[in-house]
Amino acid sequence: MTIIDVIEKKKLKQELTTDEISFFVKGFTDGSIPDYQMSALLMAILLNGMTDRETFDLTNAMLRSGDVVDMSALGGIVVDKHSTGGIGDSTTLALAPILACCGVYVAKMSGRGLGFTGGTIDKLESIPGFDTALSEKEFFEVVKRVGCAVIGQTANLAPADKKIYALRDVTGTVNSIPLICASIMSKKLASGSDTILLDVKYGSGAFMPDPESALELAKKMVAIGALAGKRIGALITDMQQPLSDHVGNSLEIVGIVDVLNGKQNRLYHEIKEVAIRLLALTGKYTLKTAEAAFQEAIDSGRALNKFAEMVTAQHGDASYVLHPDKFEIGSKDVVVADRDGYVTGMVAADIGRAVTHMGGGRMQKTDVIDFSVGVIMKVQLGSKVNKGDVLCEVYHNGKGLQEAKRLIQNAITITKTKPAEHKIAYAYVHKDGVELF
Ligand code: URA
Repeated sequence: MTIIDVIEKKKLKQELTTDEISFFVKGFTDGSIPDYQMSALLMAILLNGMTDRETFDLTNAMLRSGDVVDMSALGGIVVDKHSTGGIGDSTTLALAPILACCGVYVAKMSGRGLGFTGGTIDKLESIPGFDTALSEKEFFEVVKRVGCAVIGQTANLAPADKKIYALRDVTGTVNSIPLICASIMSKKLASGSDTILLDVKYGSGAFMPDPESALELAKKMVAIGALAGKRIGALITDMQQPLSDHVGNSLEIVGIVDVLNGKQNRLYHEIKEVAIRLLALTGKYTLKTAEAAFQEAIDSGRALNKFAEMVTAQHGDASYVLHPDKFEIGSKDVVVADRDGYVTGMVAADIGRAVTHMGGGRMQKTDVIDFSVGVIMKVQLGSKVNKGDVLCEVYHNGKGLQEAKRLIQNAITITKTKPAEHKIAYAYVHKDGVELF
Protein backbone atom coordinates (compact mmCIF):
# COMPACT_ATOMS: atom_id res chain seq x y z
CA MET A 1 0.00 0.00 0.00
CA THR A 2 1.32 3.50 -0.76
CA ILE A 3 -0.02 6.88 0.28
CA ILE A 4 -0.38 7.81 -3.40
CA ASP A 5 -2.82 4.89 -3.89
CA VAL A 6 -4.85 6.10 -0.90
CA ILE A 7 -4.97 9.68 -2.21
CA GLU A 8 -5.98 8.47 -5.70
CA LYS A 9 -8.73 6.31 -4.21
CA LYS A 10 -10.26 9.15 -2.21
CA LYS A 11 -9.88 11.49 -5.20
CA LEU A 12 -12.12 9.03 -7.13
CA LYS A 13 -14.69 9.11 -4.27
CA GLN A 14 -14.01 5.49 -3.28
CA GLU A 15 -14.40 4.14 0.25
CA LEU A 16 -11.11 3.59 2.12
CA THR A 17 -10.59 0.36 4.05
CA THR A 18 -9.85 0.20 7.79
CA ASP A 19 -6.23 -0.74 6.98
CA GLU A 20 -5.78 2.17 4.59
CA ILE A 21 -7.08 4.62 7.21
CA SER A 22 -4.87 3.16 9.90
CA PHE A 23 -1.89 3.28 7.47
CA PHE A 24 -2.15 7.01 6.76
CA VAL A 25 -2.85 8.00 10.39
CA LYS A 26 0.19 6.01 11.60
CA GLY A 27 2.38 7.20 8.75
CA PHE A 28 1.58 10.86 9.25
CA THR A 29 1.98 10.64 13.04
CA ASP A 30 5.41 8.96 12.81
CA GLY A 31 6.61 11.35 10.09
CA SER A 32 6.90 8.82 7.24
CA ILE A 33 4.09 10.54 5.31
CA PRO A 34 5.03 14.19 4.62
CA ASP A 35 2.77 17.23 5.01
CA TYR A 36 2.26 17.69 1.25
CA GLN A 37 0.82 14.20 0.74
CA MET A 38 -1.31 14.41 3.88
CA SER A 39 -2.59 17.83 2.73
CA ALA A 40 -3.69 16.34 -0.60
CA LEU A 41 -5.48 13.51 1.18
CA LEU A 42 -7.19 15.87 3.65
CA MET A 43 -8.45 18.01 0.77
CA ALA A 44 -9.77 14.90 -1.02
CA ILE A 45 -11.60 13.92 2.19
CA LEU A 46 -12.99 17.45 2.58
CA LEU A 47 -14.28 17.45 -1.01
CA ASN A 48 -15.49 13.86 -1.29
CA GLY A 49 -16.47 13.04 2.30
CA MET A 50 -16.31 9.79 4.23
CA THR A 51 -18.90 7.15 5.02
CA ASP A 52 -19.91 6.58 8.66
CA ARG A 53 -17.72 3.48 8.71
CA GLU A 54 -14.68 5.41 7.43
CA THR A 55 -15.29 8.20 9.97
CA PHE A 56 -15.51 5.62 12.76
CA ASP A 57 -12.24 4.00 11.62
CA LEU A 58 -10.54 7.40 11.38
CA THR A 59 -11.64 8.26 14.92
CA ASN A 60 -10.35 4.93 16.19
CA ALA A 61 -7.02 5.22 14.43
CA MET A 62 -6.50 8.73 15.84
CA LEU A 63 -7.57 7.62 19.32
CA ARG A 64 -5.08 4.73 19.21
CA SER A 65 -2.23 7.05 18.19
CA GLY A 66 -1.65 7.90 21.88
CA ASP A 67 -2.63 7.11 25.48
CA VAL A 68 -6.13 6.47 26.74
CA VAL A 69 -6.50 8.05 30.18
CA ASP A 70 -7.91 5.83 32.91
CA MET A 71 -10.04 7.77 35.39
CA SER A 72 -11.39 4.77 37.28
CA ALA A 73 -9.13 5.50 40.27
CA LEU A 74 -11.24 8.63 40.95
CA GLY A 75 -14.08 6.32 41.95
CA GLY A 76 -16.96 8.52 40.81
CA ILE A 77 -18.74 9.88 37.76
CA VAL A 78 -16.36 11.79 35.49
CA VAL A 79 -18.00 14.19 33.02
CA ASP A 80 -16.64 16.08 30.06
CA LYS A 81 -18.00 18.60 27.62
CA HIS A 82 -16.61 19.83 24.32
CA SER A 83 -17.57 22.87 22.34
CA THR A 84 -16.81 22.94 18.63
CA GLY A 85 -15.52 26.48 19.22
CA GLY A 86 -16.76 30.03 18.96
CA ILE A 87 -16.46 33.64 20.08
CA GLY A 88 -16.86 34.50 23.77
CA ASP A 89 -17.40 30.82 24.54
CA SER A 90 -16.09 30.59 28.08
CA THR A 91 -18.66 28.03 29.25
CA THR A 92 -16.06 25.51 30.51
CA LEU A 93 -14.76 28.02 33.07
CA ALA A 94 -18.12 28.16 34.84
CA LEU A 95 -19.27 24.62 34.11
CA ALA A 96 -16.27 22.95 35.78
CA PRO A 97 -16.92 24.45 39.25
CA ILE A 98 -20.73 24.26 38.94
CA LEU A 99 -20.62 20.56 38.03
CA ALA A 100 -18.07 19.85 40.78
CA CYS A 101 -20.53 21.44 43.25
CA CYS A 102 -23.16 18.98 41.94
CA GLY A 103 -21.05 15.98 42.95
CA VAL A 104 -19.45 14.88 39.68
CA TYR A 105 -15.78 15.06 38.72
CA VAL A 106 -14.61 17.32 35.91
CA ALA A 107 -11.12 16.42 34.64
CA LYS A 108 -10.97 18.65 31.62
CA MET A 109 -8.32 18.97 28.95
CA SER A 110 -8.89 22.07 26.86
CA GLY A 111 -7.30 23.81 23.91
CA ARG A 112 -5.78 27.15 23.02
CA GLY A 113 -7.28 29.69 20.65
CA LEU A 114 -7.56 28.54 17.06
CA GLY A 115 -8.07 30.90 14.13
CA PHE A 116 -10.74 33.41 15.09
CA THR A 117 -11.94 31.34 18.08
CA GLY A 118 -10.68 31.84 21.63
CA GLY A 119 -9.22 29.06 23.79
CA THR A 120 -10.00 28.09 27.39
CA ILE A 121 -6.32 27.55 28.22
CA ASP A 122 -5.33 31.06 27.09
CA LYS A 123 -8.19 32.54 29.14
CA LEU A 124 -7.12 30.66 32.28
CA GLU A 125 -3.50 31.74 31.82
CA SER A 126 -4.64 35.36 32.12
CA ILE A 127 -5.03 34.63 35.87
CA PRO A 128 -1.56 35.31 37.32
CA GLY A 129 0.22 32.09 38.28
CA PHE A 130 -2.43 29.71 36.88
CA ASP A 131 -0.74 26.48 35.76
CA THR A 132 -2.37 24.73 32.80
CA ALA A 133 0.42 22.16 32.51
CA LEU A 134 0.10 20.20 35.79
CA SER A 135 1.72 16.78 35.82
CA GLU A 136 -0.75 13.91 35.41
CA LYS A 137 -0.28 13.03 39.10
CA GLU A 138 -1.04 16.57 40.27
CA PHE A 139 -3.98 16.89 37.83
CA PHE A 140 -5.62 13.78 39.32
CA GLU A 141 -4.84 14.94 42.82
CA VAL A 142 -6.56 18.32 42.21
CA VAL A 143 -9.59 16.65 40.58
CA LYS A 144 -9.93 14.25 43.51
CA ARG A 145 -9.53 16.98 46.17
CA VAL A 146 -11.37 19.93 44.54
CA GLY A 147 -13.72 18.10 42.15
CA CYS A 148 -12.47 19.86 39.01
CA ALA A 149 -9.31 20.87 37.16
CA VAL A 150 -8.65 22.22 33.68
CA ILE A 151 -5.32 21.68 31.90
CA GLY A 152 -4.03 21.75 28.31
CA GLN A 153 -4.13 18.60 26.21
CA THR A 154 -1.23 16.35 27.31
CA ALA A 155 1.40 15.52 24.67
CA ASN A 156 0.37 11.92 24.19
CA LEU A 157 -3.41 12.35 24.04
CA ALA A 158 -4.42 11.69 20.42
CA PRO A 159 -1.09 13.01 18.99
CA ALA A 160 -2.39 12.23 15.48
CA ASP A 161 -5.09 14.85 15.99
CA LYS A 162 -2.56 17.43 17.12
CA LYS A 163 -0.53 16.99 13.90
CA ILE A 164 -3.49 16.67 11.56
CA TYR A 165 -5.27 19.64 13.13
CA ALA A 166 -2.24 21.92 12.75
CA LEU A 167 -2.08 20.97 9.06
CA ARG A 168 -5.84 21.44 8.51
CA ASP A 169 -5.61 24.89 10.06
CA VAL A 170 -3.25 26.06 7.28
CA THR A 171 -4.60 24.06 4.31
CA GLY A 172 -8.24 25.15 4.27
CA THR A 173 -9.42 21.74 5.47
CA VAL A 174 -10.99 22.58 8.83
CA ASN A 175 -14.70 22.56 7.99
CA SER A 176 -15.14 18.93 7.01
CA ILE A 177 -17.70 16.94 9.00
CA PRO A 178 -15.75 13.63 9.10
CA LEU A 179 -12.49 15.43 9.97
CA ILE A 180 -14.08 17.49 12.77
CA CYS A 181 -15.92 14.43 14.06
CA ALA A 182 -12.75 12.29 14.22
CA SER A 183 -10.72 15.15 15.71
CA ILE A 184 -13.15 15.78 18.55
CA MET A 185 -14.20 12.20 19.26
CA SER A 186 -10.64 10.80 19.25
CA LYS A 187 -9.77 13.29 22.02
CA LYS A 188 -12.99 12.75 23.96
CA LEU A 189 -12.67 8.95 23.90
CA ALA A 190 -8.99 9.18 24.89
CA SER A 191 -9.59 11.48 27.83
CA GLY A 192 -11.31 8.85 29.94
CA SER A 193 -14.61 10.40 31.08
CA ASP A 194 -17.75 8.27 31.11
CA THR A 195 -20.32 11.00 30.35
CA ILE A 196 -19.86 13.51 27.52
CA LEU A 197 -21.92 16.51 26.41
CA LEU A 198 -21.00 18.00 23.04
CA ASP A 199 -21.88 21.61 22.34
CA VAL A 200 -22.07 21.85 18.55
CA LYS A 201 -22.22 25.44 17.38
CA TYR A 202 -23.57 26.89 14.17
CA GLY A 203 -23.57 30.40 12.75
CA SER A 204 -21.24 33.21 11.76
CA GLY A 205 -18.79 32.49 14.60
CA ALA A 206 -18.66 28.71 14.18
CA PHE A 207 -17.22 26.11 11.81
CA MET A 208 -20.72 24.82 10.91
CA PRO A 209 -22.67 27.52 9.05
CA ASP A 210 -26.24 26.38 9.78
CA PRO A 211 -28.25 24.20 12.23
CA GLU A 212 -28.68 21.44 9.64
CA SER A 213 -24.94 20.87 9.18
CA ALA A 214 -24.40 21.14 12.96
CA LEU A 215 -27.09 18.48 13.42
CA GLU A 216 -25.41 16.17 10.90
CA LEU A 217 -22.07 16.54 12.73
CA ALA A 218 -23.71 16.03 16.14
CA LYS A 219 -25.50 12.84 15.06
CA LYS A 220 -22.24 11.31 13.83
CA MET A 221 -20.34 12.20 17.01
CA VAL A 222 -23.10 10.91 19.30
CA ALA A 223 -23.29 7.63 17.33
CA ILE A 224 -19.52 7.10 17.68
CA GLY A 225 -19.56 7.94 21.41
CA ALA A 226 -22.50 5.60 22.04
CA LEU A 227 -20.75 2.78 20.14
CA ALA A 228 -17.75 3.29 22.43
CA GLY A 229 -20.06 2.77 25.44
CA LYS A 230 -20.20 6.41 26.62
CA ARG A 231 -23.24 8.25 27.96
CA ILE A 232 -23.29 11.00 25.35
CA GLY A 233 -25.53 13.78 24.05
CA ALA A 234 -25.12 16.91 21.93
CA LEU A 235 -26.73 20.31 22.11
CA ILE A 236 -26.93 22.33 18.90
CA THR A 237 -26.43 25.95 19.92
CA ASP A 238 -26.39 29.36 18.32
CA MET A 239 -23.12 31.14 17.51
CA GLN A 240 -24.49 33.94 15.34
CA GLN A 241 -23.19 36.46 17.86
CA PRO A 242 -20.56 36.27 20.62
CA LEU A 243 -21.83 34.01 23.39
CA SER A 244 -20.50 36.19 26.20
CA ASP A 245 -20.79 39.96 26.03
CA HIS A 246 -17.12 39.89 27.18
CA VAL A 247 -14.66 38.75 24.47
CA GLY A 248 -10.92 38.55 25.18
CA ASN A 249 -8.89 36.61 27.70
CA SER A 250 -9.01 38.50 31.03
CA LEU A 251 -12.36 40.01 30.05
CA GLU A 252 -13.91 36.55 29.65
CA ILE A 253 -12.84 35.66 33.18
CA VAL A 254 -14.64 38.82 34.32
CA GLY A 255 -17.73 37.69 32.33
CA ILE A 256 -17.60 34.25 33.94
CA VAL A 257 -17.42 35.70 37.44
CA ASP A 258 -20.60 37.69 36.56
CA VAL A 259 -22.33 34.41 35.64
CA LEU A 260 -21.12 32.67 38.80
CA ASN A 261 -22.56 35.63 40.70
CA GLY A 262 -25.92 34.90 39.04
CA LYS A 263 -26.02 37.49 36.22
CA GLN A 264 -28.65 36.09 33.84
CA ASN A 265 -27.32 36.83 30.35
CA ARG A 266 -27.09 34.63 27.21
CA LEU A 267 -23.92 32.98 28.55
CA TYR A 268 -25.68 32.12 31.82
CA HIS A 269 -28.62 30.50 29.98
CA GLU A 270 -26.35 28.47 27.75
CA ILE A 271 -24.24 27.29 30.72
CA LYS A 272 -27.44 26.31 32.52
CA GLU A 273 -28.71 24.29 29.53
CA VAL A 274 -25.39 22.46 29.13
CA ALA A 275 -25.06 21.78 32.89
CA ILE A 276 -28.59 20.41 33.20
CA ARG A 277 -28.28 18.14 30.15
CA LEU A 278 -24.91 16.86 31.31
CA LEU A 279 -26.09 16.15 34.86
CA ALA A 280 -29.18 14.34 33.51
CA LEU A 281 -26.98 12.27 31.18
CA THR A 282 -25.08 10.88 34.19
CA GLY A 283 -28.28 9.17 35.37
CA LYS A 284 -27.75 10.70 38.82
CA TYR A 285 -30.23 13.54 38.14
CA THR A 286 -33.46 14.16 36.25
CA LEU A 287 -33.74 17.40 34.24
CA LYS A 288 -35.73 18.85 37.14
CA THR A 289 -33.36 17.89 39.95
CA ALA A 290 -30.41 18.95 37.78
CA GLU A 291 -31.92 22.41 37.39
CA ALA A 292 -32.41 22.69 41.16
CA ALA A 293 -28.81 21.58 41.80
CA PHE A 294 -27.50 24.10 39.23
CA GLN A 295 -29.48 26.91 40.84
CA GLU A 296 -28.36 26.02 44.34
CA ALA A 297 -24.68 25.96 43.27
CA ILE A 298 -24.98 29.51 41.89
CA ASP A 299 -27.34 31.06 44.46
CA SER A 300 -25.38 29.77 47.46
CA GLY A 301 -22.10 31.22 46.11
CA ARG A 302 -20.58 27.72 46.24
CA ALA A 303 -19.81 27.68 42.49
CA LEU A 304 -17.83 30.93 42.64
CA ASN A 305 -15.92 29.69 45.70
CA LYS A 306 -15.25 26.39 43.91
CA PHE A 307 -13.81 28.31 40.95
CA ALA A 308 -11.52 30.20 43.35
CA GLU A 309 -10.56 26.89 44.99
CA MET A 310 -9.65 25.38 41.60
CA VAL A 311 -7.58 28.47 40.72
CA THR A 312 -5.65 28.20 44.00
CA ALA A 313 -5.12 24.45 43.54
CA GLN A 314 -3.65 25.18 40.08
CA HIS A 315 -1.28 27.77 41.61
CA GLY A 316 -3.20 30.82 40.39
CA ASP A 317 -4.00 33.98 42.36
CA ALA A 318 -7.66 33.48 43.33
CA SER A 319 -8.02 37.10 44.43
CA TYR A 320 -8.48 37.92 40.70
CA VAL A 321 -11.55 35.70 40.60
CA LEU A 322 -12.99 37.07 43.83
CA HIS A 323 -12.15 40.69 42.86
CA PRO A 324 -12.08 40.75 39.03
CA ASP A 325 -11.52 44.52 38.99
CA LYS A 326 -7.89 43.58 39.77
CA PHE A 327 -7.37 42.53 36.13
CA GLU A 328 -5.41 45.10 34.15
CA ILE A 329 -7.52 45.92 31.11
CA GLY A 330 -6.37 48.01 28.10
CA SER A 331 -7.47 51.58 27.31
CA LYS A 332 -11.11 52.05 26.38
CA ASP A 333 -12.39 53.11 22.94
CA VAL A 334 -15.87 52.58 21.47
CA VAL A 335 -17.66 51.60 18.26
CA VAL A 336 -20.95 53.44 17.78
CA ALA A 337 -24.06 52.92 15.64
CA ASP A 338 -23.94 54.82 12.34
CA ARG A 339 -27.75 54.80 11.95
CA ASP A 340 -31.01 54.18 13.83
CA GLY A 341 -32.55 50.70 13.71
CA TYR A 342 -32.27 47.15 15.04
CA VAL A 343 -29.18 44.98 15.23
CA THR A 344 -30.13 42.27 12.72
CA GLY A 345 -26.82 40.58 11.98
CA MET A 346 -23.35 40.00 13.37
CA VAL A 347 -20.36 38.36 11.74
CA ALA A 348 -19.22 36.90 15.03
CA ALA A 349 -15.98 35.57 13.53
CA ASP A 350 -14.94 39.15 12.68
CA ILE A 351 -15.42 40.20 16.30
CA GLY A 352 -13.04 37.35 17.20
CA ARG A 353 -10.64 38.52 14.46
CA ALA A 354 -10.79 42.07 15.85
CA VAL A 355 -9.59 40.80 19.24
CA THR A 356 -6.81 38.84 17.53
CA HIS A 357 -5.69 41.99 15.64
CA MET A 358 -5.31 43.81 18.95
CA GLY A 359 -3.06 41.00 20.25
CA GLY A 360 -5.70 38.93 22.08
CA GLY A 361 -5.12 35.89 19.83
CA ARG A 362 -2.33 34.47 17.70
CA MET A 363 -1.68 35.18 14.04
CA GLN A 364 1.28 32.78 14.22
CA LYS A 365 1.91 29.88 16.58
CA THR A 366 4.73 31.74 18.37
CA ASP A 367 2.80 34.99 19.08
CA VAL A 368 2.56 36.03 22.74
CA ILE A 369 -1.00 36.90 23.77
CA ASP A 370 -1.96 40.26 25.28
CA PHE A 371 -4.52 39.15 27.89
CA SER A 372 -5.67 42.68 28.61
CA VAL A 373 -7.33 43.44 25.25
CA GLY A 374 -10.84 42.60 24.12
CA VAL A 375 -14.33 43.94 23.67
CA ILE A 376 -17.47 44.26 25.74
CA MET A 377 -20.59 44.05 23.57
CA LYS A 378 -23.28 46.54 24.52
CA VAL A 379 -25.86 45.18 22.03
CA GLN A 380 -27.08 41.79 20.89
CA LEU A 381 -29.16 40.57 17.95
CA GLY A 382 -32.51 42.33 18.18
CA SER A 383 -31.27 45.36 20.19
CA LYS A 384 -32.82 48.71 19.16
CA VAL A 385 -30.21 51.42 18.67
CA ASN A 386 -30.09 55.10 17.79
CA LYS A 387 -27.31 56.67 15.72
CA GLY A 388 -24.36 57.35 18.06
CA ASP A 389 -25.26 54.65 20.63
CA VAL A 390 -22.30 52.55 21.78
CA LEU A 391 -22.37 49.12 20.09
CA CYS A 392 -19.32 47.87 21.89
CA GLU A 393 -16.43 48.98 24.07
CA VAL A 394 -12.99 48.16 22.70
CA TYR A 395 -10.10 47.64 25.17
CA HIS A 396 -6.69 47.96 23.52
CA ASN A 397 -3.04 48.81 23.98
CA GLY A 398 -2.64 50.63 20.66
CA LYS A 399 -1.91 47.59 18.49
CA GLY A 400 -4.40 46.94 15.66
CA LEU A 401 -7.02 49.30 17.08
CA GLN A 402 -8.17 50.90 13.81
CA GLU A 403 -8.43 47.54 12.01
CA ALA A 404 -10.30 46.06 14.99
CA LYS A 405 -12.81 48.95 15.03
CA ARG A 406 -13.31 48.67 11.27
CA LEU A 407 -13.90 44.90 11.54
CA ILE A 408 -16.43 45.33 14.35
CA GLN A 409 -18.26 48.21 12.65
CA ASN A 410 -18.63 46.15 9.45
CA ALA A 411 -19.53 43.02 11.41
CA ILE A 412 -22.68 44.55 12.89
CA THR A 413 -25.66 45.06 10.59
CA ILE A 414 -28.33 47.59 11.57
CA THR A 415 -31.62 47.67 9.63
CA LYS A 416 -35.10 49.09 10.11
CA THR A 417 -36.79 45.70 10.60
CA LYS A 418 -36.92 44.02 14.01
CA PRO A 419 -35.51 40.47 13.63
CA ALA A 420 -37.12 37.29 14.98
CA GLU A 421 -35.92 36.23 18.44
CA HIS A 422 -32.79 34.05 18.55
CA LYS A 423 -33.01 30.83 20.53
CA ILE A 424 -29.86 29.74 22.33
CA ALA A 425 -30.35 26.03 21.67
CA TYR A 426 -31.83 24.55 18.48
CA ALA A 427 -31.88 20.83 19.28
CA TYR A 428 -30.66 18.07 21.55
CA VAL A 429 -29.26 14.88 20.04
CA HIS A 430 -29.08 11.66 22.04
CA LYS A 431 -28.39 8.06 21.10
CA ASP A 432 -32.07 7.36 20.44
CA GLY A 433 -32.97 10.45 18.41
CA VAL A 434 -33.27 14.22 18.17
CA GLU A 435 -35.40 16.67 20.17
CA LEU A 436 -35.97 19.90 18.23
CA PHE A 437 -36.65 22.95 20.42
N1 URA B 1 -12.52 21.36 17.56
C1 URA B 1 -11.68 20.31 17.48
O1 URA B 1 -11.16 19.83 18.48
N2 URA B 1 -11.44 19.78 16.26
C2 URA B 1 -11.99 20.27 15.14
O2 URA B 1 -11.72 19.73 14.07
C3 URA B 1 -12.85 21.38 15.23
C4 URA B 1 -13.12 21.92 16.47
